[in-house]
This record gives sequence, C-alpha cells and structure tokens, in this order.
Amino acid sequence: MIDPRHIFLTGSQGRLGGELLGLLPGVVAPSLERMDLTRPEQIDAALDAAPDVRVVAHAAAYTDVAGAEKNRASCWAVNVDGTRNLVRAVSQRGLRLVHISTDYVFAGTTGGYREDDPPGPVRNYYSLTKLVAEQLARLVPHHLVLRTSFRPREWPYDNAFTDLFTSQDYVDVIAPQIALAIQRCDEIPYTVLHIATERKSIYELASRRRPDVRPSRKADVAVALPDDISLDCSRWRELKQRWESR
Ligand SMILES: NC(=O)c1ccc[n+]([C@@H]2O[C@H](COP(=O)([O-])OP(=O)(O)OC[C@H]3O[C@@H](n4cnc5c(N)ncnc54)[C@H](OP(=O)(O)O)[C@@H]3O)[C@@H](O)[C@H]2O)c1
Repeated sequence: MIDPRHIFLTGSQGRLGGELLGLLPGVVAPSLERMDLTRPEQIDAALDAAPDVRVVAHAAAYTDVAGAEKNRASCWAVNVDGTRNLVRAVSQRGLRLVHISTDYVFAGTTGGYREDDPPGPVRNYYSLTKLVAEQLARLVPHHLVLRTSFRPREWPYDNAFTDLFTSQDYVDVIAPQIALAIQRCDEIPYTVLHIATERKSIYELASRRRPDVRPSRKADVAVALPDDISLDCSRWRELKQRWESR
C-alpha cells in the first residue's frame, strides 16, 4: 500500500477529490488557486515542492456536461490541454499516473462495457474531451486509467429513470474503491480498469437513498440519454478478491 504522503491529487476540491482527500490523510493536494492545470509552470512548481511523491492521481476536470456544449474552449482547455500539461510533468519526473475517466467514453447502447472494448461514439463534448484525455494519459510510461461513475451522496431529484441502466453508485461508495486502487496501483497488472458497482436502473439506485423517488421514463425529458452505460467491473472484483484472500 502506498503511503498517502507519496500521492499527489488534482481536483481535491471536487466531488470525488474531496472524498479522496478524507480517505488519504497526508496526500499532497494543491488547490486550483495554487495549481491551475492550464498553467504548466504551476504544475512544475507544485510537483517540485513535493519531492516524495511517487504517484499522481488526476481527478481534476471540467465536468459540467451541459456547460461544455456552450463553453467548448473551457472544457478542452482543462480536460485536454490540462491533462497534456500534467502528463508532460509526470513523465519528465518518472512518476506514475492514475487518471480518472468516465463510463461516458462509451456510447451507452449495449452496456456491460469491458476495459478493452472500443470506446465511442461519444454522446457529448465533455465525453469527447475525456476520451482524448485518456489517450494522453496513456502516454505516461506507468499509467492506470480508472473509468468510473458516481452521484452525490444524496439523490437530488424527485424522479429517476427506470429505462436507463448504469453501474454507477454514490460517491461515498465509489471513492473508497478509487482510493484503494490508487494506493495499490503498483499491484494492478492493467493499464485500464473499470471501478463501479453492479448494473441497475437509475431508479433502483435512486430508491436506495430516497425511497419516495418516483419512477420516470427517458421519453419524459428532451435530452438524448443512453440506454445502458454500465461497465463490466469483473477485473476489479477479481483483483479485490485476490487481495482479500492473501
Ligand atoms: N461526476 C460524475 O458523475 C463522474 C462520472 C465519471 C467520471 N467522473 C470523473 O471523475 C473526476 C472527478 O469528477 P467530479 O465529479 O469530482 O468533478 P468536480 O466536482 O467538478 O471536481 C473537479 C475539480 O477539478 C477542479 N478543476 C477544474 N478546472 C481546473 C484546472 N484548470 N486546474 C485545476 N483544477 C481544476 C475543480 O475546481 P473548481 O471546482 O474550483 O472548478 C474541481 O475541484 C473527473 O475526472 C470526472 O471526469 C465524474
């Protein structure tokens, strides 16, 4: 297990990053004010100030999916250019990169996507930038791309779809698994790994934290949504079983 003091975290003020910050006490986690990924010199300064770091966990991103359609340049600047800047700095220092990616690199038609299934076609601009970012992350000699999906701790809506399937879960369920994968990245014999939970409808997921949630259908909203964006997580399940049985 890698000591959190050897881990450097981007996006620590975000939904996932905030959870990781609590789960990895001592992790090096500069704020956006100190390290803007679009400023290469700030990345260099932050990494130079943390000489004991061995692993960089990259959870920062432009994640406003609707906003990305209107502000493409902002989304590209953070998710693509920012990741490229980080990749350069990480590679130059011989560090390991754990890059957080998304189920939305897949089309969401068939579900049950495995790590080596071809991604795309993507459904929106945010997903395009995340797919490009994955390819940049893979340029780091020691890299691990973690594809995941999560919701805030509480279900925020009155309704939830019965006809949209996912393997996502609440962030407090997913984050401990991401933290474990980061801390054991040296022991993961893959370069891409899916971390989520079992396939279920969004309604089923919502009901777990909000029993009075009402069922709805995708046809009720004007946005084009996937049918089944679920990830096959058998690699991750097998890895955890192997670790637990030791
Ligand atoms: N949320 C989901 O459902 C979901 C699903 C699958 C994968 N993911 C991935 O998981 C990761 C974390 O997502 P999240 O939901 O926790 O996102 P989030 O809450 O939006 O957090 C992202 C963090 O990145 C920071 N950031 C934005 N631009 C930056 C820049 N130029 N330089 C440095 N930091 C910057 C943000 O700072 P500010 O808040 O100050 O802007 C924020 O702290 C992302 O890679 C995302 O693509 C998310």
